[in-house]
Amino acid sequence: MPNSTAAQRNRDPILKVLRTVLPAKGVVLETNSGDGTHAVHFAAALTPLVWQPSDIDLPALEILATKSTGNLKAPLQLDVVSTDWPLDHADAIVSSNMVHIAPWAACEGLLSGTARLLTAGSVLFLYGPFFIDGRPAAPSNQAFDASLKQRNPEWGIRNLGAIDAAAASRGLDRTKLIDMPANNFAIVYRKRT
Ligand SMILES: C[S@@+](CC[C@H](N)C(=O)[O-])C[C@H]1O[C@@H](n2cnc3c(N)ncnc32)[C@H](O)[C@@H]1O
Repeated sequence: MPNSTAAQRNRDPILKVLRTVLPAKGVVLETNSGDGTHAVHFAAALTPLVWQPSDIDLPALEILATKSTGNLKAPLQLDVVSTDWPLDHADAIVSSNMVHIAPWAACEGLLSGTARLLTAGSVLFLYGPFFIDGRPAAPSNQAFDASLKQRNPEWGIRNLGAIDAAAASRGLDRTKLIDMPANNFAIVYRKRT
């Protein structure tokens, strides 16, 4: 289960960025919502947006289900690697802290699903640690990357250039890279018009 202490710490810095990139209304699909710490906070702050949480993990879905109310919808089971997502449209997609704690196929699946669901001009928001060409990696992120790879050799902090290339080949162009606290980043891709 994700660390909700971290989510409580980073939810306001993330919300500040979300306010500048999400549409005023419509449905936001959050993939890999975990225990819903972010979903509860963002849904309450971003009314009238409808927040659609989801995760691959059944225990997470059970916790998420206890939190749904108002504009925070009941969770969907969604494995981003699947080509068959349980909804066919979203007005924006948000994914925090997954692409490094999953195989590369999860990042590719997230990008492919985003390309299928979003209409031109809509955004995919990513949050987490990334390695960025030309910028020295923070020692804490290097240590985190090593510990992830030790847990699973297919995991690890992703190179932003590799994500950009995989996104671009699916019609998604990066429009923002924002430094966030604790050596994390907020990244925005927009579907090409
Ligand atoms: C570190 S938690 C992040 C939770 C929350 N978004 C946050 O930032 O606090 C990673 C989440 O990714 C989910 N996850 C891993 N692989 C996934 C996949 N293929 N599809 C959807 N969710 C996945 C896990 O079940 C877990 O809930």
